Amino acid sequence: MSLDKKRRVAILGSTGSVGTQTIDLIAREPEKYQVVALTAHHNVNLLAEQARALNPELVVIADESKYTELKEAVSALNVKVAAGAAAVVDAAEMESDWVMAAIVGAAGLPSTIAAAKRGAKLAFANKETLVCAGPLMMDLVAKHGCKLLPVDSEHNAIYQVFDEEHREGIARLIITASGGPFRAYTREQMAAVTPEQAGKHPVWNMGAKISIDSATLMNKALEVIEAAFLFQMPSEQIDVLVHPQSVIHSMVEYKDGSTLAQLGTPDMRIPIGYCLAWPDRMTTPAAKLDLAKIGSLTFEVPDPVKFPTLRLGREAMAMGATAPAILNAANEVAVQAFLDNKIGFLDIAAIIEETLSIVPAVALTDLDVLADTDEAARRCAEEQVFNKTQKK
Ligand SMILES: NC(=O)c1ccc[n+]([C@@H]2O[C@H](COP(=O)([O-])OP(=O)(O)OC[C@H]3O[C@@H](n4cnc5c(N)ncnc54)[C@H](OP(=O)(O)O)[C@@H]3O)[C@@H](O)[C@H]2O)c1
Repeated sequence: MSLDKKRRVAILGSTGSVGTQTIDLIAREPEKYQVVALTAHHNVNLLAEQARALNPELVVIADESKYTELKEAVSALNVKVAAGAAAVVDAAEMESDWVMAAIVGAAGLPSTIAAAKRGAKLAFANKETLVCAGPLMMDLVAKHGCKLLPVDSEHNAIYQVFDEEHREGIARLIITASGGPFRAYTREQMAAVTPEQAGKHPVWNMGAKISIDSATLMNKALEVIEAAFLFQMPSEQIDVLVHPQSVIHSMVEYKDGSTLAQLGTPDMRIPIGYCLAWPDRMTTPAAKLDLAKIGSLTFEVPDPVKFPTLRLGREAMAMGATAPAILNAANEVAVQAFLDNKIGFLDIAAIIEETLSIVPAVALTDLDVLADTDEAARRCAEEQVFNKTQKK
């Protein structure tokens, strides 16, 4: 199927790392895509600039205090302006062919769920939605015929080589990890790292939160949970393998011993472009893979002592119910506290572990239960941050 008419696109989180790379690709093929909605949290200047370039029907700023500023900034355009969390959901619900869910954190959940309920083609970057609400989200996807297109490079890689029609032949999924900036550090060295050091990813250029998640390897813990729901595989059949060059983006091992992988340079515009053009392929500006120049690819098993987040993710998955949402909320609070210089790097995992042991996981019956759990976990994690700042 080709894109014979313009694909109408809504970009939730358009000012972020994934959002801006999506726009970069769209700007290269304006005859194929019409952006109908853009949303951001605080960044009025960039949102207004994007609106001027793309002429959408709706722009939304989640922070209501920025409404007037945005309204003035786009006053020369024929565009509807809205503010607040409910308006972000409206952007997901408006008629469009394709939605990019690229808001960071659990804040992206309501709009991602709204797009799924509409049966949209949903390019799915906001992994926190699946981590927190995996079973609910996958039910909605099936019920409303939503097409989930994974943006995360690892899940996108698996998606490309996962034989859905013969899934009984699949033995395991292997998610690769660059290992982050502290792969070779000792725990003692990690105790002293700053947010600036942790934010400098050796391979990928990403938003602040996911960069810290990559440094703690929590990103991989979240990705194992995401993959378990997305591909309906037991988490015990999903392994993590450190591969510092980030050339093999993940693999599917089949029963007969065949292992299929997707390879490419580490450029998010490859998986984003895959989702944008799906089921076609588009030309992206990503550098082509030159394996002869790279020379060798290396692999190692992640160190479970240096990176306890991987164990915590698996424990949360084994606990089930709302435990992954507790893990996610505690992580979001702890990462923000680390970025704000309130706690140390190693405190992040400690706070998550403690929160998981204190806040009870309950059956994930609906989104209200999830909201209550999220709030309880955030409160618990914030208390620990407070206690640690008192000791500093
Ligand atoms: N970056 C990557 O390479 C990458 C790779 C794989 C997966 N992902 C996943 O993609 C998602 C986005 O990551 P990112 O790195 O692009 O994040 P980012 O650069 O921090 O951008 C986040 C976007 O969400 C908006 N936003 C933040 N909080 C919000 C809120 N409470 N309500 C509404 N909008 C909000 C931000 O608006 P402002 O700009 O106004 O703050 C921004 O547009 C995450 O789930 C991440 O795990 C990212």
